[in-house]
Formats: sequence, C-alpha cells, structure tokens
Amino acid sequence: MVKFIILLILAYLLGSIPNGIWIGKIFFHIDIRRHGSKNIGATNTYRVLGWFAGTIVMVLDIAKGAIATWLPMQFGIHSWYPLIFGLAAILGHTYSIFDHFRGGKAVATSAGMLWAYNFVFFCIAAGTWVTCIFVTSMVSLASMLGFTIIVIASFFEHDPALTILAICLTIFTFYRHRNNIIKIIHGNENLVPFGLYYWY
Ligand code: G3P
Repeated sequence: MVKFIILLILAYLLGSIPNGIWIGKIFFHIDIRRHGSKNIGATNTYRVLGWFAGTIVMVLDIAKGAIATWLPMQFGIHSWYPLIFGLAAILGHTYSIFDHFRGGKAVATSAGMLWAYNFVFFCIAAGTWVTCIFVTSMVSLASMLGFTIIVIASFFEHDPALTILAICLTIFTFYRHRNNIIKIIHGNENLVPFGLYYWY
C-alpha cells in the first residue's frame, strides 16, 4: 500500500512538471502562458517558440505519461492498475502543483500513457492525429479525433479497461478543448502552417 501511494504521488509530481513553461522561461525568457493560445502544451510552444522547442516539449510531455504508467509495472503492479498512475500524471499536467493548480490539455501526456499501456493503440491514435493535421491543419481537432478513434477501435480489443480509458480520455479531451471547439465552429481556430486546409 505504501509503495502504491508513493508511486501515485511521484506520478502526479512527474505529470505536474510544466515543460512548456519551464523551457520557455529558461531558454527563451518567454512565458508561453501569455502568448498564442496561452496553452502550455507542445502546440503552443511550437507556435510561440518554434518547431525545435515544440518537439522537445511534445517528447517530454509524452514521456511524463509513459514513465508514470511504466514505472509501477517495474514494481510488480500489473493488469489495468498502471493506468491509475497514468491518470495521476494527466491530473498533474492539467492541475499542476508547479503552476497554481492550472495546466494544459494533457493530450501528449495521455498519449504517453497509451504508449506504455498498449503501443498498437498509441500508433492508431498517433496515425489518426498526423493524418487529421495533414488534412485539416488543426491540432485541436486532430487531438479530439485521435482519442475518439481509440474508443471505436477498443471495441475490437476485448479489453474493458482500454475501452473505459478511451471513453474517459475522449470526454476529458473534448472538455479541455471546449474553447477550441467554439473557435472551430466559428471558423477561427488557429491553424498550423502546413496541411491541405492551410495550403488551399
Ligand atoms: O494539445 C493541445 C492542442 O490540441 C491544441 O492546442 O494551443 O491550439 O489550443 P492549442
């Protein structure tokens, strides 16, 4: 039980690390919470600080979710229980102790959890995400679609934990993207500067 609680706290603290804020402040002297969409994730880091910083933040944010889910497995916690620690990391990213209990939309951290739990499903989500960005030039839409596809695909996996996880992640992702949804409906969502929608 003590092991469980310590790992849970570690997962939350790991998820709480605001990579976008810290990299922006340390290397660029810019607070990304004041620029672009004001989100602390990889997309806004890319938007404000460039592709290299955006890629680093994406990798580190994915790693948070993956490590938080993988670590308990190394301590003999198996089956669907590692997902609890992945969810703690997502909670940390969204309600960070290092950012006055505010945070990001947790797309990359959720993807990291999926990577550690079921790599095939991570690939399905990532493939959908990349394809959607290429077609629509909208990362937010791609993020919502990526998790929605996982819900549908999970019905063929016969893993109830995966289906429940996918439903929870999808609902949470839609909730965290509620402002993006309004912008998409009004046709003024931020675009990334590539993809069919942007070019044409
Ligand atoms: O991962 C966040 C992404 O889906 C949207 O980010 O900055 O465009 O609101 P942003």
